[in-house]
Amino acid sequence: METLILRESEIKKAADIIRSGGLVAIPTETVYGLAANALDGKAVRKIFAAKGRPMDNPLIVHIADVDDINNLVSEFPEKARKLAECFWPGALTIILPKSKIIPDEVSAGLDTVAVRFPSNEVAQKIIKECRIPLAAPSANSSGYPSPTMAEHVIEDLYGKIDAIVDGGTCSVGVESTVINLACEVPRILRPGAVTLKQIRSVIGNVEVDSAVYNKINDGDKVMSPGMKYRHYSPIAKVVLINGSRKGYIDYVNSIVDNKGVFALCFDEDVKLLNVPCVSYGKSSDFMEQANKLFSCLRKLDKLKAKVVYAICPNDEGIGLAVYNRLIRAAGFEVINVE
Ligand code: TXA
Ligand code: MG
Repeated sequence: METLILRESEIKKAADIIRSGGLVAIPTETVYGLAANALDGKAVRKIFAAKGRPMDNPLIVHIADVDDINNLVSEFPEKARKLAECFWPGALTIILPKSKIIPDEVSAGLDTVAVRFPSNEVAQKIIKECRIPLAAPSANSSGYPSPTMAEHVIEDLYGKIDAIVDGGTCSVGVESTVINLACEVPRILRPGAVTLKQIRSVIGNVEVDSAVYNKINDGDKVMSPGMKYRHYSPIAKVVLINGSRKGYIDYVNSIVDNKGVFALCFDEDVKLLNVPCVSYGKSSDFMEQANKLFSCLRKLDKLKAKVVYAICPNDEGIGLAVYNRLIRAAGFEVINVE
């Protein structure tokens, strides 16, 4: 299949492809999404095939007007309304009981649906032009780091999808916060740019699912199927080093057999490390770290890194999202240092 590369002004072309059952990668403020008509099960199935995604991992449905959620869910409770009012359009995905129009392919057989209203203007224009909600997971090969630039989508999906709309670099760089409101106590299933603190300030009591911090073992029951899969992992082996910056530098510099070893570090530490470095931002700038993490993981593969020692980020605010993605990229392999 020939994949068209569209400019961000070619909204109508992108919408025509989606409306006729095709797949188009579109920019959003978080990461690029691989979009199809969310109401067409057959079109949605193509998403799973192109990404190599397990069929039991449900998709997020994207809308471009808060009112459009009404057709997708069987109830829109007060807490959901408040969250939508405060954080939409933006990097928050809300899970609610689904309505009858949601195909099983989208919800992967669950009785809930995840809905998001992105703030990216190109995404909004495409959804509006389509006049249908769009199912869209991150536009990467399943398991690999999510795409934050059109080039990343080309690397993973060129030849497998109908088109890619190039909208430049995503402003946030990590996927949306996912909150489940279809349970007794609202629960964050995936941290993102909308933080736990912000959500608590609007709806009060909120839990954080243990899968945000911990490994899911085979056979464990999970609320978010995506959490049980290998995720965000480059080809290189990643090990997370938890401790002070000095402890990290001493640890990495003490490795004797360091052929193929790379450091995924903060800007300040590049000069102090004895191995090749890829920096994912200043140690104090959590937004910058979120923005750069996925492209740094991809870059490490291009540099043919074999083992990557990554400094553990601070887990406050959006830092929790960065920490969550990195610990998954590392397959939960953490070494504690001073
Ligand atoms: O920022 C984002 O959310 C991006 C952009 C494209 O919007 N999308 C994205 O989709 O990250 P995806 O498919 O890569 O991640 C969606 C996550 C998965 O972990 C999935 O299991 C979970 O949301 N999810 C979707 N629907 C769900 C549901 N009904 N119940 C529980 N978890 C759900
Ligand atoms: Mg994904």
